[in-house]
Parts: sequence; C-alpha cells; structure tokens
Amino acid sequence: MTLAELAADVSGTLHDGSSDTLVTGLVTFDSRHVELGSLFVALAGARVDGHDFADQAIEAGAVAVLAARPLGVPAIVVSDVQAAYGRLAKALVRRLPGLGVVGITGSVGKTTTKDLVGQVLSQFGPTTAPPGNRNSEVGMPENVSRLTPDARFLVLEMGARHVGDIAYLTSVVRPQVGVVLSVGTAHLGEFGSREAIAQAKGELVESLPADGTAVLNADDPMVAAMAARTVARVVTFGRSPQATVRAEDVSVDAAGRPAFTLVTPHGTARVSLRLHGEHLVSNALATAAAALHFTDDLPLVAQALNDAEPVSQGRMQVSENPAGVTVINDAYNASPVSVIAALKSLQTIAAGRRMVVVLGQMNELGDTSADDHIEVGRAVGKLRPALLITVGNEDAVRLGAATAEAGVAVVHAADKDAAAELVAQHVRPGEVVLFKASNAVGLMPVADDLAAGVSR
Ligand SMILES: Nc1ncnc2c1ncn2[C@@H]1O[C@H](COP(=O)(O)OP(=O)(O)OP(=O)(O)O)[C@@H](O)[C@H]1O
Ligand SMILES: [Mg+2]
Repeated sequence: MTLAELAADVSGTLHDGSSDTLVTGLVTFDSRHVELGSLFVALAGARVDGHDFADQAIEAGAVAVLAARPLGVPAIVVSDVQAAYGRLAKALVRRLPGLGVVGITGSVGKTTTKDLVGQVLSQFGPTTAPPGNRNSEVGMPENVSRLTPDARFLVLEMGARHVGDIAYLTSVVRPQVGVVLSVGTAHLGEFGSREAIAQAKGELVESLPADGTAVLNADDPMVAAMAARTVARVVTFGRSPQATVRAEDVSVDAAGRPAFTLVTPHGTARVSLRLHGEHLVSNALATAAAALHFTDDLPLVAQALNDAEPVSQGRMQVSENPAGVTVINDAYNASPVSVIAALKSLQTIAAGRRMVVVLGQMNELGDTSADDHIEVGRAVGKLRPALLITVGNEDAVRLGAATAEAGVAVVHAADKDAAAELVAQHVRPGEVVLFKASNAVGLMPVADDLAAGVSR
C-alpha cells in the first residue's frame, strides 16, 4: 500500500514524504523488527518514546513513520498513534473481504494452539499465523500487518491483562471463530479474581457474529459457561464425554507424544501428534473444532495435526544434544498449570532415566504467588528428580524449600548465568533436563545452549 492510502485509512497527514511511496514490509512498533519497506510506529511507552527511534528505523529500512508529530523524516502524523495502529490493522483486514479470522484466548496454551490452528488451516488456503507471542494492542496489529494479499485465513492470539482488552482487540479485528482455552490464574495479580479473568476472556465470544463459532473448553466450567455470552454457534471441546469435539483412547508414547481418537460431528479420525506433552490433546481438540468451522474435511484436519511441528520457541521443545543429554526447553513461560503439565511430560520422557529440573520463578501470580510456588515445589518433590536447580527470586527459593522437604537435592541460582554454571557442573550424559520459568528469568538461552552442546 502507498503512504497516501495508509494515511487515508488512519485519517493522518503525510509529512516530508511522497504519497506514492510503497510500504511493503512489517508495520512495527519495535525498532528491532524494522525491515526494508517497513512502516515504523512511534509509540510512546512508559520507559521509551518511539519517536526517539525514528531516525534509526529509517536507517534500518523503514520508508516512513507513523507518529504524533512531524519528525523531519517521512511520517504519517496522527493525534493518537496507538489508535491509528489499530485502525490500520482494521483497514488491512477490510481489504480482504473473504478472510477467515480465528481469535484465540485463554490463560494457557494460546501460542501453542495458534501455531496448531495455523498449520491446520494452511492445508485449506494461504494462512497468516505469525510465530511468537505478540498478542497485545500493539503486538496484534503488527501480526495483522504480516497478512499477504492472497491470505485466506488469519490466526491471532489475543491476550488480556484487564477487562476490556480483548473487546478492544476484537474491535480492531473481529474474528468469525473465537477459541477460549481456559480460565486459570495467569495474571491473577492484575485481574484480582478468576471471575474477572473469565469476564475478560469471554469478551472474545461476545464479539462473534451469529454465523461465527465459539469454541469453548467443556472441561473448564468457567469457559463452558461463556456459551451464554455469545450469539454464535457453540462448539465445545475437551475430554469430557459431553464435548462436541473430544478425544477418546488417549495414549502417550515413550517420547511423551500423545495419540488419540478425534471424535467430531463429522466423524472420527486417529491423531498421533509429533509434539510433546499430554496437555496438547486439549489444544489439538480446540484446533480441530476451530478448523471444522471452515471445512468438513476431517481426514485432512487430522492429517495436518499429525504433521504439525513446534513453531514458536521455548514451548516443549524436546531434543537430544551431542553429549546424549535430553533437553526439554519449556522455558518461554510458566504458571502452576503449565509447570505441572511439563513435570508430567518430563517423567514420561525420562522413562526411568535421571531427571534434573531447572525451575525459575513464576511471575504475575498475585496474592497466591507464595502458595503457588510451594505447591509446585511439592509436585517436584513427588516426582523425585535427582536434582532441582531453582533460579531467581525468593519465590523460587520457597519452591525449592518445599521440594527439599521431600528429600530431593536442591541448589539455588540467583540468575540465569549462575544456573548455566550449575547445569554445566551437574548434568551428565544420558540425563533428561527440563527448563521452565517465567520468560523474564531468561532460561531460554540456557536451555538452547545445553541443547546445542555449548558449554560456557
Ligand atoms: N493446555 C495446556 N495445559 C497446560 N500447559 C500448557 C497447555 N498448552 C500449553 N501449555 C504450556 O504452557 C506454557 C505456555 O504455553 P503458550 O505459550 O502456548 O501459552 P500462552 O497462553 O500463549 O502464554 P502467554 O500468556 O505467555 O501468551 C508452555 O510451557 C506450554 O508447553
Ligand atoms: Mg502466548
């Protein structure tokens, strides 16, 4: 699109640039993501002001900046940059009238499920489902700008930290299919209560049109109750026998990969995932339910699930390093539910081999944080690994103390570098190591280094 077209879409005025310049690259607020042909969005954040990075963005290849004031470089000037970013995303979607949009929310599994839905829908048409996590009022428009002109499907993760966040995201891009995975305790700190979280996540299904589909988790009562909040058709998924789309005969192989019979109104199909972790059954069911809104070709949906690979980094990536250490990198983030799920997978994958658990603190749990860490520490104790390495703040220490009570050896690392040293010191060939923590702890590169056999 040209700068003139974009300026018209956001009711902005073009300064210092030529109206027929084409924007061909990412529309991004992150100067590190700027590529040739980008439009750089100068957002003023709490810590930095994007306007200070305008020159740098132009040098990096951006053809113009979306900004709140003229900057001496080509700029589309608007009064509210963030609102304009949303309007721009909306305008992009409006240009593709046949586009099928899937929105995914929930307390855990959004990115994993978005990656699965993207891989399944790409069997049915060109699909934009960008890897990674960008799910906020600024991340989602960036992902929308990755739409290709031939796109038939767009799959978006929608995150919420407050009531109203998802309503905003759906006002930018209104999905036809809304998937709600779970109402857990992630971000309980900001929300205050699980009811508030349910209120926020349910905004997704409130936005759906009557000919849309709400895909709701039958196994999570707070999600199932959202059926009352939508005019769309409701399809439930889960392990429970009442679910519209469900799994029967679930088994897990020695590598921790689940297989099951996918039961749907369109018939049944056998699914064997290449991905690791029994918890993925639920995500795969949600994926099938979402895909069946657009197709009734169940065999192709099942085949695409069978072929699906890990896409985004740090979510149950299982590999063996040159020294024969099995590394489970699940270090992108952590909440009690996902740690328990990962411990279960670790046990299956280890199959009696020596296990080492590297666990950092789980952030943003609010008032229950200390108790949650103690509970997870006890779960580690029950698993009886050879060693637990805790990483980070006093919550991580609390977790370790609860594990030590079960007689398991525990050492503490103050940060990721100390953790890397302890890993190098203690981990031996033939062992299985799980890395898990909130992203801020920074364990992803430590796991990557071990997986690559890099020693420090
Ligand atoms: N259904 C599930 N149940 C339990 N754990 C899960 C489930 N799906 C994914 N996980 C695990 O939870 C963690 C986070 O997964 P993912 O990144 O997909 O969630 P998310 O909802 O996108 O998180 P965020 O809020 O950070 O965007 C990963 O460790 C993943 O393996
Ligand atoms: Mg995510």
